[in-house]
Amino acid sequence: MKTMEWKDNRLVLIDQTKLPDELSYFTCKTYEDVIIAIKTMVVRGAPAIGVAAAFGMALGYLDGENLENVGKKLKASRPTAVNLFWAVDRILISDNPLEEAKKMYIEDIDTNLAIGRYGAEIIEKGDTILTHCNAGALACVDYGTALGVVRTAHHQDKDIKVICDETRPRGQGARLSVWEMQHEGIPVKLIPDVASGYLMMTHKINKVVIGADRVAFDGIVNKVGSFLVALAAKRFHIPFYVAAPLSTFDHEISIYDTEIEERSPDEVLYYGGCRIAPKNTEVINPAFDIVPDDLITGIITEKGIIHPKKFKEFFINLK
Ligand code: MRU
Repeated sequence: MKTMEWKDNRLVLIDQTKLPDELSYFTCKTYEDVIIAIKTMVVRGAPAIGVAAAFGMALGYLDGENLENVGKKLKASRPTAVNLFWAVDRILISDNPLEEAKKMYIEDIDTNLAIGRYGAEIIEKGDTILTHCNAGALACVDYGTALGVVRTAHHQDKDIKVICDETRPRGQGARLSVWEMQHEGIPVKLIPDVASGYLMMTHKINKVVIGADRVAFDGIVNKVGSFLVALAAKRFHIPFYVAAPLSTFDHEISIYDTEIEERSPDEVLYYGGCRIAPKNTEVINPAFDIVPDDLITGIITEKGIIHPKKFKEFFINLK
């Protein structure tokens, strides 16, 4: 099954908090259920959050709710991924929220396939690709953005290997990206977050492809840890690509003005259910990072690959 499905007027989500040990589902009967699913990260990843929110709006519509209010509440569920805001606004101006949500669902898959096709052009035979967090099928409706690039290159027999960092504190790399790659039969190895610099220095990684929660005019916002990966890649002249659909673009904003979600201290204080720091430890737990455009080699979209410094020209040409 895909990350989510619309069945019998319900939104059924893979419960990503239970992976990789258990493949189970979370059924949303109301828009409030969708808000819970987004907040608790049952569904996560920018495109998946966007499409889930669109179905949340559809549930509100079917229940006769005031959609402006539903939209406000959905937008307050997680602040960083712009797809959430994009999806709610798109539903608000649509004639039929359910049909629009279904359209966005299909579009997401087509978009990722296109990102995969463009992205595979920069992958060379034998590449070892580092990815951070999970920008895979689970972060979208299907196929993935960064892992969509990996999938296409693999289907083209490019003999690629993937390295996933664990992505503390929620472990999306270890739990979700490794799981996806194993299911697809793509060679994958897991590393501690802190090991990617050493592996770049010793020529064990020759490309980085990650996703984004927001593409601003001066860089991108993505899972915390992305900046340090980008810095190391720059130091060792390793191409650093970001794969993201145009629905993740917010070209009015600067990376420095994007709201970075701060999550619960418990995510850092506990590991596998055990406390790993003294009682009363104060914690800072930003869920996202910012990567300035001078560290980015290119942004892979469904319309082509953009050089981050040529942003404006790209959008002028698109119109
Ligand atoms: O906190 P998460 O798991 O929602 O963060 C996800 C990421 O940072 C992804 O890299 C990003 O949303 C891109 S997904 C195609």
